[in-house]
Amino acid sequence: MKIDIVSVFPEYFEVLNLSLLGKAQEKGLVEVTAHNLRDWTHDVHHSVDDTPVGGGAGMVMKPEVWGECLDELLHLEPTTIASDANEDDDAALSSETQAPAESADGTAGEADDPKTTVPGPVLIFPNPSAPLFTQQDATELSHADHLLFGCGRYEGYDARIPRYYRAQGVDVREYSIGDYVLNGGEVAVSVMLEAITRLLPGFMGNAASIVEESYTGENALLEHRQYTKPADWRGIKVPDVLLSGNHAKVDRFRRDEALAKTDELRPDLIETLDCTKLDKADRKT
Ligand code: ADE
Repeated sequence: MKIDIVSVFPEYFEVLNLSLLGKAQEKGLVEVTAHNLRDWTHDVHHSVDDTPVGGGAGMVMKPEVWGECLDELLHLEPTTIASDANEDDDAALSSETQAPAESADGTAGEADDPKTTVPGPVLIFPNPSAPLFTQQDATELSHADHLLFGCGRYEGYDARIPRYYRAQGVDVREYSIGDYVLNGGEVAVSVMLEAITRLLPGFMGNAASIVEESYTGENALLEHRQYTKPADWRGIKVPDVLLSGNHAKVDRFRRDEALAKTDELRPDLIETLDCTKLDKADRKT
């Protein structure tokens, strides 16, 4: 998988050379390149932002600089959008939403089938005002060949940037990593990048640990509690059933615990469970 990141702080991503992602790069599973957005500026100050049209606090990232940068990285020629696409009405907005995504070759989005390869580059902008990035998104994007992340700063980026590239047939996604506001997209990109790349075949030492963890699979629940040895630590015992060697009982115990924990901590996830996929022995919590 090829990953490009554009940021005004490309050094921030040097940390990606460490740890498992560093090893994955050494193994050739991923190739990550961080670019400096200011390399596409032409003025002496290398400015990438300007004041918001219509007034307001802060600065907005300029479309011209992003345009030159993304055209180069996506191998696209600059063009002008037809004037009817400029109507800023609800229809224009709804045609720009990211689900289902259209890929560069015009095929429909693959959101329903996370096993399918995502064709063409996927352009991703972190944005606190976008839909939440989920494990399902990470799974889907882990099948892409090329991801291009654009890190916004200041009050964000000019809204025409994602709109323009969608109109060019690029699969453009905008995601929030949570209901809070960060200073820029760099941290959010790191979070998404880690969630995506750890799903690449060969990335993790033990592939089974991915299958069993929280938010994964058709009936995604929070993961059950984990214990290691000793069986009694400072008077707190590992549940007996886990020491029984009876795999069916262990599975049942863990599933019950996952259901109870999810019900207590994340009732919103219980609401979304597909009842037809529930195990017959699942207790009503
Ligand atoms: N940029 C600033 N805050 C963000 C958030 N919560 N998610 C994604 N990008 C952001």
